[in-house]
Order: sequence, then C-alpha cells, then structure tokens
Amino acid sequence: MAEKLKIFVCTKGKKCPKKGADDVCRAFEQAIAELGADNITVKETKCLDLCKKGPVAMVMPDKVRYGRLDEDDARKIVRAHMQGETVEKLTIKKK
Ligand code: FES
Repeated sequence: MAEKLKIFVCTKGKKCPKKGADDVCRAFEQAIAELGADNITVKETKCLDLCKKGPVAMVMPDKVRYGRLDEDDARKIVRAHMQGETVEKLTIKKK
C-alpha cells in the first residue's frame, strides 16, 4: 500500500495568500481527487518561514519543500509523489 502523505500548504501566513496560495491549495485537492491519490491529503497551514518563495507547500513525512507554485505545479507534484518521486526543479533547496 502506498505511503500516506500530507501536503501542507501555507494559506494562513502573511505573504503566500497574496500570491495565490488558496488557488494552489484548491488545485492540490482537485488533482488528488482527479488522479485518485487516496494516500495523499492536503492541509492548510500557517507560515512555513519560506515567505520569499511563496506560495509554498511541504510534503510530509519527507519534508520536501516546494516554492513559487502555481496550479499546474500542484498537479505535477501530486502525480510525482504518487510514484514516490519529487519534482526536483520546484523544490526549495536546503540552505
Ligand atoms: S507566508 Fe507562506 S511561508 Fe511565510
């Protein structure tokens, strides 16, 4: 059975919502439904301290961080994680 994943989307911080975080969050939910990704859930969260890279999402439990997301990116991320992969070019590299 596929590992359970949670995608935390910063929709409650000060910056990400101004850059379209709510739309990105809805795009994640829609992609999960359309692709039948039963093992993935989306949670809205407060600031993840990556504001300059917003909209931001983090996939747990592996703590994969994604930045500057749009709705298409959300779909790509869901599809990749269903197969145990990440979308390397959208990840925020560790400092
Ligand atoms: S406001 Fe989204 S990471 Fe800070």
